[in-house]
Amino acid sequence: MIIAQQLVDVRQAVREARRRGQTVGCVPTMGALHAGHESLIRACREECGFTAATTFVNPTQFGPQEDFARYPRPGEEDLSRCRGAGVDLVFLPAVELIYPAGFSTHVEVEGLSHILEGAVRPGHFRGVATVVLKLLNIVAPDRAYFGRKDFQQQLLVRKMCRELDLPVEIRTCATVREPDGLALSSRNRYLSANDRQTALCLYQSLQLAQQRLTRGDEDVRAIAGDMRRFLEAAGARPDYAVIADPETLAELTAPMQNMVALVAAHVGRTRLIDNLLITC
Ligand code: PAJ
Repeated sequence: MIIAQQLVDVRQAVREARRRGQTVGCVPTMGALHAGHESLIRACREECGFTAATTFVNPTQFGPQEDFARYPRPGEEDLSRCRGAGVDLVFLPAVELIYPAGFSTHVEVEGLSHILEGAVRPGHFRGVATVVLKLLNIVAPDRAYFGRKDFQQQLLVRKMCRELDLPVEIRTCATVREPDGLALSSRNRYLSANDRQTALCLYQSLQLAQQRLTRGDEDVRAIAGDMRRFLEAAGARPDYAVIADPETLAELTAPMQNMVALVAAHVGRTRLIDNLLITC
């Protein structure tokens, strides 16, 4: 496995892979790897001859009061997970390489950047879009892999790539969950034993919406209200609980054939998100 910290090393390895006739796939991450990330790497390896993972805790997508400083950075463990998963190249750039002094160019996906996660975390998606564009420009993959766990993020990345004519295919992979339903997240390690129990309410609130909608309940707004009350009753502090159009994330007032239920809630000191695609 190649461990690259410089642009030239990434570009050379990718060039050589292309020369061998390999398709190049990229899996952008912030490290603290878990089975969710590994599933993206697996999907990439199934479709691409050369798998590049990036691990970069991107400062520009964290708000001033958020967990950038304490975000887990288990360097060696991440490398051995990458090795175990069969990654060909890991790019772990220094912050100064991605954002040299005086850096001032940013990508804004208007509209989608400012609702739901974007409304609660101002500037978050500008940071995500900017770093993802940079990483895709550096690696220049044929395909890039994202998790459905961050539903709004994968929509935003797709829209950005389409509108900026990036020659990359975006793949979205299913959310990997613990056996009891909790979506895997690098932030789950912040949860106390008590919080870990409470955190189950996110997935349960999504299942509640799924049951009601598939049973034919058409009062979408009432269902969303009940999701929020369910989260509160379980001891979480929701930022939002909505049922939306999976293409635009516009909140629904009546059911559609395909919908997505999305929740974000604080559990103890940890903020968690989850979502579920619902088909009626
Ligand atoms: P990170 O949170 O490390 O996630 C990296 C990728 O793993 C994302 O595409 C995310 O959706 C996916 N992922 C996380 N948990 C998952 C799960 N339980 N099941 C399936 N996939 C999961 O998302 C980011 O990093 C950053 O915003 C990034 C895109 C790297 C830009 O900095």
